[in-house]
Amino acid sequence: MPELDSTAKRLFPFEILTGLRRESPVRYDGARGCWDVFAYEDVHRVLKDSRIFSSTRGPAAGQNMLYMDPPKHTQLRELVNKAFTPKAIQDLAPRIQSIAEDLLDQAAGERMDVVSHFATPLPVIVIAELLGAPAEDRTRFKSWSDILVESAEDLSEEAFVKINEKRMQAIQELSEYFVKILELRAQHPQNDLITALMSAEIDGEKLSGRDIINFCILLLAAGNETTTNLITNGVRILTEQPSLQDELHANPDLIPRFVEEVLRYYPPIVAIGRIATQDVEIGSQKIRAGDQIIAWVGAANRDEAKFAKEPDRFDLQRSPNPHMSFGFGIHFCLGAPLARLEGKIALEVLLRRLHEMKLTSEQDLIPIQSSFVFGVKNYPISFQR
Ligand code: HEM
Repeated sequence: MPELDSTAKRLFPFEILTGLRRESPVRYDGARGCWDVFAYEDVHRVLKDSRIFSSTRGPAAGQNMLYMDPPKHTQLRELVNKAFTPKAIQDLAPRIQSIAEDLLDQAAGERMDVVSHFATPLPVIVIAELLGAPAEDRTRFKSWSDILVESAEDLSEEAFVKINEKRMQAIQELSEYFVKILELRAQHPQNDLITALMSAEIDGEKLSGRDIINFCILLLAAGNETTTNLITNGVRILTEQPSLQDELHANPDLIPRFVEEVLRYYPPIVAIGRIATQDVEIGSQKIRAGDQIIAWVGAANRDEAKFAKEPDRFDLQRSPNPHMSFGFGIHFCLGAPLARLEGKIALEVLLRRLHEMKLTSEQDLIPIQSSFVFGVKNYPISFQR
């Protein structure tokens, strides 16, 4: 979006989004060829009505459920829900905790870059373990998942082609990798996610090997960078408003509420795309069948029509907190329980072990170059142990 094209604006986009919402809550952007929707009520409607606002993106993207509509989506989601249960996620807590502690043990001294030393490796290791990949393959996992979420450096055709080639290559390598894991599990079933996915069954229907592999690749793409940004955005708030460190240190029971407010205030995903399947009116604007719509969760989360009490203030006591940072409706984030658990444990460990966390240099922060993602590539801090 042209309004969000500089480093400073990418680091602080929310004021701009609020301005756009107040000025014209639904507007067509000719340069990008899409509709932008900013108000809470309208974003909610776009995400809720999957019949009018489709998630499909052409045949190539139809392989994973994020880009499917019912009935295909419903069937796939029900099957993976059987394996990706709240209990299976909760069982990961001790393991997530020990990974977080190890990462802090390795960061010697009184400085570290939160992104590279902590917030990036944590979800990558968790997902790699969840998918049954041995520890020595983690670096490959990390580079594959980076390629999956990488966006083109500029808008040229050449940049798109290049990035697409890299992505196809990564998907090919990942597919070969998971074929081997599936073969191993077929011979020796284990108490893990892949085995559960292989045996999940509804009315005699099972997931095909291809479905399982596509799903595993989706988990890497959907779960890594988002969780990294949740953790880093949480540390960012803690350093921007240092009194929160004392408050949470004294009262760690408030950490889950803190995580929810981080999700609302600094959402890792700020915008979600859909396509209109028929002519439809939103906020008295006429949208045509086939038009692309961008639903700005990052603007909706600060809409005073929904969050009456100072939406631009970070409020640890905010309750209820109906943010839409995990989406809404049938595509509501499948990994939300895992992301919440990782966010909670990561911040608990950081707050318990590191005191007086401070950002060391604001000038050097590099925002992630994507209109859909809110986060930074680095977050250097100093602290006392
Ligand atoms: C879907 C955000 C972490 C797996 C979504 C959607 C959002 C989202 C906004 C809906 C997209 C849409 O409606 O088109 C987030 C955020 C996360 C996070 C902010 C971290 C803070 C995770 C994790 C996993 C995951 C850890 C798995 C390991 C998925 C999957 C879907 C999804 C599979 C597709 C669900 C469907 O299409 O039915 N996520 N996500 N996400 N997410 Fe997450």
